[in-house]
Amino acid sequence: MSRIVVVSNRVPVPQGNAGQAGGLAVALLGLMQRRGGLWFGWSGAVTDANAPPGLTQRGGVGYATIDLTEAEHRGYYTGYSNGVLWPMLHGLPHLMSFRRQDLDIYRKVNRRFADNLVPLLRRDDRIWVHDYHLLALPGALRQRGVLGATGFFLHVPFPAPDAAAVAPGIRGLVQDVLQSDLLGFQTAADRDNFAATAVGFAGAARLSEDVLELGGRPVRLGIFPAEIAAPEFAATAAAQAASEPYQLLARSLRGQALLLGVDRLDPTKGLPERLEAFRRVVARRAPRSLAMLQIAAPSREEVMAYRRLRQELDSAAGAINSEFGEPDWVPLRLLARPQTRDTVAGFMRQARVGVVTPIRDGMNLVAKEYVAAQDPADPGVLVLSRFAGAAAQLSSALLVNPHDAEGMAETICAALDMPLDERRARWRECWEAIADASPEGWGEAFLRALSPEDLARLPVAGTA
Ligand code: ADP
Ligand code: F6P
Repeated sequence: MSRIVVVSNRVPVPQGNAGQAGGLAVALLGLMQRRGGLWFGWSGAVTDANAPPGLTQRGGVGYATIDLTEAEHRGYYTGYSNGVLWPMLHGLPHLMSFRRQDLDIYRKVNRRFADNLVPLLRRDDRIWVHDYHLLALPGALRQRGVLGATGFFLHVPFPAPDAAAVAPGIRGLVQDVLQSDLLGFQTAADRDNFAATAVGFAGAARLSEDVLELGGRPVRLGIFPAEIAAPEFAATAAAQAASEPYQLLARSLRGQALLLGVDRLDPTKGLPERLEAFRRVVARRAPRSLAMLQIAAPSREEVMAYRRLRQELDSAAGAINSEFGEPDWVPLRLLARPQTRDTVAGFMRQARVGVVTPIRDGMNLVAKEYVAAQDPADPGVLVLSRFAGAAAQLSSALLVNPHDAEGMAETICAALDMPLDERRARWRECWEAIADASPEGWGEAFLRALSPEDLARLPVAGTA
């Protein structure tokens, strides 16, 4: 069997039990540990050394990582990846901050990844590139003579062509990523938006629903919604009832209904809008009848929009508590710190309402985790943004528009008042949508589509 080579910006080299906030790490780690292979990417360190990759072997997985220089980190990671591509891909162009040199550095770092990876490759490797940091990598690998099966998965959404076009440089990057054999997306909408952009701006032709062609080279398009290990997460959540964090939270609530949000502190997660909705809920309900816990793990603090968001949230939380709080009751608890995965699972099980309301999200694994964590006999209610990829699967959740604070407040109140029968019925449908899937199944489906047998079914250039 061919070796799997995963390439991603961040490489979660296992270090004890530390929690990993981030969908990519959570989704891929189990698969790689079981299958073995090579994982290549950034070490997470910023140094002056332009050294060859550092190699670590853990179980069957080899981790090969390179450091970034400060200028590379600023231009490639903070600048173009998170200051231009991330907001563009999530439809938030007003948060973009473009500098021409950042695009040049982004392309240069993608070439550096290729230069360092190529000597580690074997002829029949299956190469799987991840996410928006590395759109130029498939093209850079082909330029260096890599002919083997190369797939690319986009963990985040892809917007309509006009919204994609606002990112300077996107045309060339779409052409580069089209040098892959397989492109994977979270939803059909992301696939179709990408295809329309590739046709409209990058000179590609759409041969069929799932095949594009550029320069005589066919590229397969596939939909692979990212999944969680739901039964395992459910068991973790149930076991947490005896844990100290769970007990401390339960005791502090004194019977108040818990609303819970768990996110990276990111402008796409709809946090100010969520707090505004919560403010309206508190205004309608009796004091001491409910409390919200919002866990918002700091993320990408080098990026200005993220630092501003932190200040905005601190101020909104303070305003809610000072307006509605009582000497013996605080409606909102805002924690700007990550919690361990197990603790989060227990909190989710305790929450009467899971509030997952991103402005836009590729998938949103928190939504699936909330469903998995519930007690089937007395489940809580998921309030979910219709603009999260997860909404395509969890259609029995209460779907909301995250731009409509009043609508969200009404829906949260409906969730709080929902009778047990309806909670059970909605939860059961959501559970059935995720129970049999797994991150391993997700990864295996992608890798199957990247196998020589499956790729051989692509049309030969010019014959479709
Ligand atoms: P993203 O990939 O944008 O971070 P996802 O919801 O897809 O969002 O995945 C996030 C993962 O990280 C989930 O497994 C979630 O439990 C975990 N996570 C997110 N925020 C926190 C937090 N504040 N504390 C602990 N874990 C978190
Ligand atoms: O889902 C988006 C994503 O980029 C994941 O790939 C990643 O695990 C997470 O956000 C955290 O982002 P960063 O690597 O920038 O800290």
